[in-house]
Amino acid sequence: MFSYRHGFHAGNHADVLKHLVLVQMLKRMILKDKAVLFVDTHAGAGTYALDDGFAAKSAESGSGIARLWGGRFAEPALCDYLAEVAKHNDGPTPTRYPGSPQIASQMLRGHDRLRLFEAHTTEVEVLRDWATAAGRRITVSSTDGFAGLKSVLPPPSRRALVLIDPSYEDKQDYRRVIATLEDAFRRFATGTYAVWYPQVSRPESSRLPELLRRAAPGDWLHAWLTVKAPEPGGRGLHGSGMFVFNPPWQLDDALRPAMPALVALLGQDPAACFGLESRLT
Ligand SMILES: C[S@@+](CC[C@H](N)C(=O)[O-])C[C@H]1O[C@@H](n2cnc3c(N)ncnc32)[C@H](O)[C@@H]1O
Repeated sequence: MFSYRHGFHAGNHADVLKHLVLVQMLKRMILKDKAVLFVDTHAGAGTYALDDGFAAKSAESGSGIARLWGGRFAEPALCDYLAEVAKHNDGPTPTRYPGSPQIASQMLRGHDRLRLFEAHTTEVEVLRDWATAAGRRITVSSTDGFAGLKSVLPPPSRRALVLIDPSYEDKQDYRRVIATLEDAFRRFATGTYAVWYPQVSRPESSRLPELLRRAAPGDWLHAWLTVKAPEPGGRGLHGSGMFVFNPPWQLDDALRPAMPALVALLGQDPAACFGLESRLT
């Protein structure tokens, strides 16, 4: 079994980008009454302590949410994201970081559904406990999320937001992301699919954005945030990206002012930059 535990990375700069985009997608998808199915193929534990356990040990949130917390921002997407983190915390300083399941459960409505896949044997038990407390709209499966996606598409309501957020600890994940998307487009071409990917010094990571562009049958949007120059020969994360297929209406408008603000807040050296590109018809 893989060793990756998302708790070590909770609230880091990559989580900030991923969850800021996720909040904007959910916000737009709940504007219509029709039920939304939220699928998280790689769900993690649901929520994370920042002051204890893995996250406290790694302190990665210091390069992420901690740099935004307490700030006052003009960019609505930053405010929306911080409001979701605040909802999950009682005090003035966040002690818990909401994972994608927690954010989705906070934002979705009573008639929407959450379908979560998590294959790590320990992590899925934590997720199940979280889901039991979070409500009956949520179904958790301990099976492989890439394969599991087939079983939920197309959703009865014909509206879905699918987050594909592997750890890429296994380099097969790069290949499986593309294969999974190609299959998903055949089953349900009009769904909204968001793929998170890491910027690391390996060829699979550099090639992935072009493979994603080529896989897109229709509209797409791609936002990436580089926080520092790659370390020479290093394996560290120097940034990340979110690639969204069939993005909700005006997602690009929401992200345009937020991305330079993220560079200013999360950038660690002069190589820090962002990208925002799209094909919208
Ligand atoms: C990056 S974390 C997910 C974080 C979460 N989506 C969030 O934003 O809060 C990736 C998770 O995928 C799990 N995982 C790895 N391979 C998997 C697979 N094939 N199917 C389902 N889960 C998997 C890992 O155990 C890990 O918890």
